[in-house]
Amino acid sequence: MTAQVSVQAVDLFCGAGGLTHGLLRTGINVRAGIDCVESCRYAFEHNNRAVYMQKDVRNIHGLDLQPYLTTNNQEKGITLLAGCPPCQTFSSYNRKADSSDPRWHLLDEFLRLVEETRPDLVAMENVPGLATKDVFLSFVEGLRKLGYRSPSWKVVQCAEYGLPQHRRRLVLLASRLGPIEILEAKHFGAKPKTVRDAIGFLPKVAAGVVDAEDPLHQTFSLNALNLKRIRASRPGGTWKDWPEDLRCPCHKKSSGSTYKSVYGRMNWDEPSPTMTTQFVNYGTGRFGHPEQDRALTLREAALLQSFPTDYQFVAPGEKVNISYVARMIGNAVPVVIGELIGRSIFAHLDSV
Ligand SMILES: C[S@@+](CC[C@H](N)C(=O)[O-])C[C@H]1O[C@@H](n2cnc3c(N)ncnc32)[C@H](O)[C@@H]1O
Repeated sequence: MTAQVSVQAVDLFCGAGGLTHGLLRTGINVRAGIDCVESCRYAFEHNNRAVYMQKDVRNIHGLDLQPYLTTNNQEKGITLLAGCPPCQTFSSYNRKADSSDPRWHLLDEFLRLVEETRPDLVAMENVPGLATKDVFLSFVEGLRKLGYRSPSWKVVQCAEYGLPQHRRRLVLLASRLGPIEILEAKHFGAKPKTVRDAIGFLPKVAAGVVDAEDPLHQTFSLNALNLKRIRASRPGGTWKDWPEDLRCPCHKKSSGSTYKSVYGRMNWDEPSPTMTTQFVNYGTGRFGHPEQDRALTLREAALLQSFPTDYQFVAPGEKVNISYVARMIGNAVPVVIGELIGRSIFAHLDSV
């Protein structure tokens, strides 16, 4: 098969469209995305020209997806069901999650939709912690039973694929056409990128101020104490760099002295730390700007997630709700990982 073959895809749990955007860039025709919240509709549709179905995946049936998984040329058309179920429940940050969380079982719903639509290809992305969970093992086993003989999965370090961010992610690919592999970083061929490469060109903006040109270039303001703290922080450092009077009471206890990963500034010349939905809050991670006295702006985090500079998350003139947009960006599959999946698929189609 040649790389010219058309691939029709549906993106389950599509959010603002990071995965979809990366797939589209490689030539995969993502025709619809499904997500249960309305707030992602604008970003998904505006940037990707695909249909957004605001629905709970548990209430979707194969027949709902079928119109988006057919082609004009049935002989050559290949179909893909892709998706990234909510990962918070499997994340190492979430110590309390267990199978009583309803999100735990959304992977079973993904498998049910594979069974009901029988796509040629399946792609799934999630946090590495999912790999050890029964729900993942039964997903893989279920795929095998449905005729995807060699599902292939691995944990990739996204920085090796050109993401300006340290982010480990589990990527799974499965095909009914034959063995499929996730491209190795050396074959993907992306140059390493730093925070400076990704955001160094943006204009300066103060905490709590909105950039005149780009309403997404804004972040939360800082209170007087946090302003003093970030001024006392250095790139790559921690709150341990601060004078005693700026430290939080919890840091002064012996049990608190291990909380190194809060109130840091990022290094210009390294990839950023893993983006979460909390990057707009200076106190929740290492999301201090390398030299400006504030946390990351929405635009900076979108660039660190490899969205293009002009990706829009809010309709023109609409008020930007910083927390909502931060959730869309922090939850996204990095666009380069969508590209990794797309290029791995075309390499596979070339080989069968
Ligand atoms: C990890 S995010 C997906 C990110 C997206 N693939 C991207 O690249 O931007 C998970 C998404 O699942 C959605 N979600 C959670 N539960 C859902 C459900 N039951 N049905 C449909 N979508 C759901 C959330 O709203 C969230 O947008």
